[in-house]
Amino acid sequence: VAERPFTNEPPIDFSREANQQRMQAALDQVRGQLGRGYPLSIGGKPVETGAWIESVNPSHARQLVGQVAAAGPSHTLQAIETAKRAFDSWRDTDVEVRAEILRKAAAIIRQRRFELAAWITLESAKPWRESDGDVAEAIDFLEYYATGMERLAHSRHRNLPGEANETFYEPRGVAVVIAPWNFPLAILTGMVSAALVTGNTVIMKPAEQSPVIAALLQRILEEAGVPAGVVNYLPGVGEVIGPILVQHPDVALIAFTGSLGVGLAINKLAGETPQGQLHIKKVIAELGGKNAMIVDGDADLDEAVKGVVDSAFGFAGQKCSAGSRAIVLEPIYDRFVERLVEATKALTVAPADEPGCGVPPVIDAEARNRILKMIEVGKSEAKLAFGGDVGELANEGFYVAPHVFVDVPPNASLAQDEIFGPVLAVTKAANLDEALAIANGTRFALTGGIFSRSPQNIATVKRKFRVGNLYVNRKITGALVDRQPFGGFRLSGIGSKAGGPDYLLQFLLPRTITENT
Ligand code: NAD
Ligand code: ALA
Repeated sequence: VAERPFTNEPPIDFSREANQQRMQAALDQVRGQLGRGYPLSIGGKPVETGAWIESVNPSHARQLVGQVAAAGPSHTLQAIETAKRAFDSWRDTDVEVRAEILRKAAAIIRQRRFELAAWITLESAKPWRESDGDVAEAIDFLEYYATGMERLAHSRHRNLPGEANETFYEPRGVAVVIAPWNFPLAILTGMVSAALVTGNTVIMKPAEQSPVIAALLQRILEEAGVPAGVVNYLPGVGEVIGPILVQHPDVALIAFTGSLGVGLAINKLAGETPQGQLHIKKVIAELGGKNAMIVDGDADLDEAVKGVVDSAFGFAGQKCSAGSRAIVLEPIYDRFVERLVEATKALTVAPADEPGCGVPPVIDAEARNRILKMIEVGKSEAKLAFGGDVGELANEGFYVAPHVFVDVPPNASLAQDEIFGPVLAVTKAANLDEALAIANGTRFALTGGIFSRSPQNIATVKRKFRVGNLYVNRKITGALVDRQPFGGFRLSGIGSKAGGPDYLLQFLLPRTITENT
């Protein structure tokens, strides 16, 4: 059978009035459904726990998006036991059946595209285009991993006279998926669908800030035909149920995307191998970044300013891929800073559900307070070239105005620590070598970029700027499944690229059978 060609789901064109109306209608429809309760789903059955996690709209913090049951230790053990029991039969289910379930889920999501985008806008404060991109990426992961697994399902045969050899892949067992809130549907769907299509059973633990969209994903997977117990929805407080999941001897794999600190803690705990555990746990960890964009002396200023602003302030800087450092060569530095500040001033801080939103609020009060504290520290480290307050919006939600710091020393915390908010550090470099040393001089290696007209400098940067995803003369966010497999190294992650050809291998074990014929 010929392999299905993969194409990325095209974005919705919001410049068309009909699409604007559909999005407004979807937002209205979803507003009518806010405030509902969502139980756990274990073994295909709803489970109430008596404790709730409230999910609020960061744009209008008094608005309850929904509340989900908070799993405790006993529910966590119940979910692991259920996933373990479901494993043998899911492992032995034909790959074609598993792949078709993913494609069916993709079809359901495609059909509910505006509605799901509206949920993301209201729960995670993503502006319309970003929410739509999140939904489109979820569809892409489902389609891409379905075909990817069908490809891997062909055994490799090496037969000689008198000897037949077959090498093939098997799933690992119970997979725990621990997800962040910033791509609340896409990243969750990516990790869950990869675990699922490879034949593992799954415990889906969404972030506390985005559990409602995860509940909807659980229902979509069930509607698409995932058998009871194969995916279990287990929202809960990370610090409470995370260690139980990670430590448990019946868990084979942990797929984690989130912060460096939590990723390292998971990696350590998963390496402990408790009594009764008969395997070594596999950890996939996709972590943070401190991503830099180099602006060369001959860069096209319009392109560079737009690329830097989009990368730094899109979704209020809350992407692991976001550009949080601009390293600008001396000849262009003053002109670039002037233009950058003008462009930043022009951004509209607004609720994410408003179509003209440029910079939405950050995810919650804790994030806002942490970012504001880092801005205060920044003021003692460098010069604040732009940054205001958000006026009346401060009473409405978790807003932080975009901030631009200039003349930032490369070793300042502003230039070294992930802020995960709308804060950009600009540093001057005397030449390209110095710019590269500064760019490579952090713990992270996730994304990076160069704006330049010089083929020679671009070639040097391609060789020497060591990050997982490097972009030339464009923004450094928005990697697309298959076209730009995504992920970094150093302390930005262990694991290969999400949305790339190697990703599924991490969820599998190879076996070889040799027969004397
Ligand atoms: P986080 O680490 O705070 O939380 C991520 C998940 O871990 C949540 O589900 C949380 O409940 C859970 N968790 C918390 N403590 C835990 C523990 N002790 N044991 C197990 N699980 C625990 O991250 P976040 O705030 O949700 O997401 C933002 C971070 O994610 C940023 O650092 C960002 O760079 C990173 N990120 C990375 C990528 C990537 O692909 N590299 C993509 C998106 C986000
Ligand atoms: N894959 C996301 C991006 O590239 C994180 O922006």
